[in-house]
Amino acid sequence: MKQTVLITGTGRPYALGFNLVKRYLEAGDTVLASIRRPSEALEELKKEYPDRLHILMMDISSTESVNAAAWQAEKLTDHLDLIINNATTASADTMKELPDFDLDLIAPAVNVGAVGPIRVVKAFLPMLRKSAMGALIVNISSEAGSIGKCYRTFYLDYGTEKAALNMLTMTVRNWIKDDPNLNIICLHPGWIRTNPGNNEAPLIPYEHAETLRNLFETKRHDKEGPVFITYTGEAYPW
Ligand SMILES: NC(=O)c1ccc[n+]([C@@H]2O[C@H](COP(=O)([O-])OP(=O)(O)OC[C@H]3O[C@@H](n4cnc5c(N)ncnc54)[C@H](OP(=O)(O)O)[C@@H]3O)[C@@H](O)[C@H]2O)c1
Repeated sequence: MKQTVLITGTGRPYALGFNLVKRYLEAGDTVLASIRRPSEALEELKKEYPDRLHILMMDISSTESVNAAAWQAEKLTDHLDLIINNATTASADTMKELPDFDLDLIAPAVNVGAVGPIRVVKAFLPMLRKSAMGALIVNISSEAGSIGKCYRTFYLDYGTEKAALNMLTMTVRNWIKDDPNLNIICLHPGWIRTNPGNNEAPLIPYEHAETLRNLFETKRHDKEGPVFITYTGEAYPW
């Protein structure tokens, strides 16, 4: 069954969001791809899929922008079957340790990386509720958001936003626990080669996007399994 998918943070052709968009389009689905600034790569892709790829402007740090995007989306489709909250951020100090880190950079990062995805969920909830197949929300988190496994002395912003995203995911999960047509998970996607200057990461975005696409289908109706998972579907410690 074909589905309608919203994916955030999709403008960079070498990153995960754009490659997820490609994979869903190749699978025959309709994709609402959100960006916060124009993307040439996405415009090129739209030429290939003029009817099934819709580009939305949405800055997830702003409630006004997210609500406006939801309003635009309602003109394109009456429902959503899947939201992939992929967009994230890290500050310029992300690799620094406490003495050198400007702590005022943490709250804006949390606003994007943790509150942002839940803003999207709240604004698009009426469309998720109209999914005939049962809707799934995937919040792309990270092992860096695990408090139990935390070993780093840096990522004060990024680790905090992902841990907060995990908490928000579980809280929403509790809220929808009795709804058979709505599910939510958060995911550590693995180490993906999304930084053009660094070829160390083992996972290739285009290949990995297909692994994730298949994994998400196994989680759509899974209310019993783990909520914070790795890309192999196993539980990751909170
Ligand atoms: N790559 C990895 O190895 C890895 C590992 C663990 C977890 N993850 C997670 O996987 C996801 C994808 O990773 P990635 O490396 O592909 O990410 P990325 O290259 O850093 O891309 C992040 C995207 O988020 C967008 N974004 C930033 N702030 C935004 C805002 N306020 N509103 C809307 N969009 C915003 C960026 O837009 P612009 O292009 O306009 O800046 C960009 O397209 C992220 O959630 C990341 O934390 C990645």
